[in-house]
Amino acid sequence: PTITFTAHDGECFTVDALDGTSVMQTAVDHGVPGILGDCGGGCSCATCHVFIPRDWMERLGPASSIERALLSGRDDLAPNSRLGCQIVLSPAHEGLNVLLPESQY
Ligand code: FES
Repeated sequence: PTITFTAHDGECFTVDALDGTSVMQTAVDHGVPGILGDCGGGCSCATCHVFIPRDWMERLGPASSIERALLSGRDDLAPNSRLGCQIVLSPAHEGLNVLLPESQY
């Protein structure tokens, strides 16, 4: 799917993502700044924090309890917070816009 990352300063990065790849890995593979993914997608670092537009939240389904627990440790937690490594892309995600936080720490 083609997805767009919007950085905190408004800069946009539109990339063609591979099906079966996570939002975090897609950002890292395409050199999108603002996502770190320090744990490599193991759901243990929370440096892949992203914000999801409200209309996409339901379509993505709920976060797991582990993901929610990790997110709860972030100061910039918002109702539309997700971990990018836990969103695995498919054709259904065509047009997804992911908003990046000001910092991953
Ligand atoms: Fe570490 Fe997502 S990459 S929690």
